[in-house]
Amino acid sequence: MAVTLENMPKLVMRFVGVEGANRIDEATRRGVYGTLKKALSMAPLAIVDEVKKSNLRGRGGAGFPTGMKWGFIPKDAKTTYLVINADESEPGTCKDRELLYWDPHTLIEGVLISSYALGCTHAYIYIRGEMIREHRVVQRAVDEAYAQGHLGKLHDTAGRGPWKLDLTVHRGAGAYICGEETSLLNSLEGKRGWPRLKPPFPAVKGLFGQPTIVNNVETIANIPHIIDKGGPWFADLGTPKSGGTRILCMSGHLNKPGVFELPMGIPLRDVIEKVCGGVPGGKKVKAVIPGGSSMPPLDASELDIPMEFDALMTDERIKPVEVRPGIKFDMGGGKALRTMAGSGGVIVMDEDTDLVAVTARIMRFYAHESCGQCTPCREGTGWLARITTRMAKGEGRPGDVDLCASIAHGIAGNTICPLGEAAAWPMLGFLTKFRPEFEAKIRRDLSPEKRAASTQPPLVQIRGTGYMGTALPRGRT
Ligand SMILES: Cc1cc2nc3c(=O)[nH]c(=O)nc-3n(C[C@H](O)[C@H](O)[C@H](O)COP(=O)(O)O)c2cc1C
Ligand code: SF4
Repeated sequence: MAVTLENMPKLVMRFVGVEGANRIDEATRRGVYGTLKKALSMAPLAIVDEVKKSNLRGRGGAGFPTGMKWGFIPKDAKTTYLVINADESEPGTCKDRELLYWDPHTLIEGVLISSYALGCTHAYIYIRGEMIREHRVVQRAVDEAYAQGHLGKLHDTAGRGPWKLDLTVHRGAGAYICGEETSLLNSLEGKRGWPRLKPPFPAVKGLFGQPTIVNNVETIANIPHIIDKGGPWFADLGTPKSGGTRILCMSGHLNKPGVFELPMGIPLRDVIEKVCGGVPGGKKVKAVIPGGSSMPPLDASELDIPMEFDALMTDERIKPVEVRPGIKFDMGGGKALRTMAGSGGVIVMDEDTDLVAVTARIMRFYAHESCGQCTPCREGTGWLARITTRMAKGEGRPGDVDLCASIAHGIAGNTICPLGEAAAWPMLGFLTKFRPEFEAKIRRDLSPEKRAASTQPPLVQIRGTGYMGTALPRGRT
């Protein structure tokens, strides 16, 4: 039975807004650390099984099943690490910040239980550099947990003999790319925050070359609830393949924007209208980014989609992203790209929004944050930023729309990490659903003189490939 807005229990956000609950005495009084004892009386594998049964899926972006990921740790691993990804920097996403500030002790309890299950004796919280206030609160909470003997002290356990955990809080320097898990691990090792080629995946070769699980803050904050009430209970709260509740960060043109814990699979229209009070001035919705700015947008006809991992990828009411009109973007094996739940950052845009300007802003972000390791991402995001910016400034040229689509198509699938796709997918998504707006903007802004002076050669299909191409004269950007 999936829960509704009316009967949903609050799990991860239960202490948000509760003054004092981020101090250990108050947190303990409210039951935090109570589940740790139960967990330590269980066999580690029984905890992993419970997480598998819960259908918990990673809240960091990809929605990967957490129990399955934990199962990838090699059976004979001697040293393993758990790293909590608190880098939260996907535009539109601001949920982990709330959990870190209001409820750091539930996160620490989740880290203790998960580390025990995974055989870790040292775990890390990698926190975004700009989160100064949250870092202070989390470090204080870790110090309190050491002082009370939850961390750094031997516990009797049913499955590992005497066991203890050390927990280090590490501040990043504020780079978006350090949220990508392998880049984060390099940064944690003191190296440049560049993504690593996968495989090997971190669960096999991660931090300091050892098997490592990287999980998002919200993911691990759910673990004490799962162990307390059981995996099937948690699974039952959600949809058949996604257990629990989901935090959505609602921003943009809304009467009541905010961060909300909501039933998994709630229709987007209900979130906009019932939870966020609709769009100011009674205006219509034009577009919605459903899961952080790297996700293809939805248009006004796609608001009845359940906000759940699989639905956003497969629901046939969502138009597939196209490379060119009529030609679907192929995710591999003919699979269409629709959109994704991502990191839960939902950005609502009303009917008056200039989507060319929005796209340009998004492209500038990814161009700025590209680490520069791979050519398609380094060069492609730069080109997308420059071309969309000139379109937004009213200096677009005939052919710019196809040029952007071609560049984006050339990036996707050809890079070391998914930051390339994070730029390419929204670019193609906005063009698929709002192409006439881009074309009209170019037409409107091209005076007859400018049009005549435009020397850009027409786009042609590059022989033997699906790409459209043109040779731009040097210096023309
Ligand atoms: C460019 C990029 C940035 C990312 N940023 C974050 C982030 O800020 N926080 C996060 O939890 N995951 C982020 N991820 C996803 C992580 O790589 C990783 O999948 C996630 O932390 C795994 O945790 P989960 O299984 O609990 O979701 C990012 C991925 C990419 C490609
Ligand atoms: S895709 Fe971009 S961010 Fe990722 S490794 Fe390549 S250049 Fe760096």
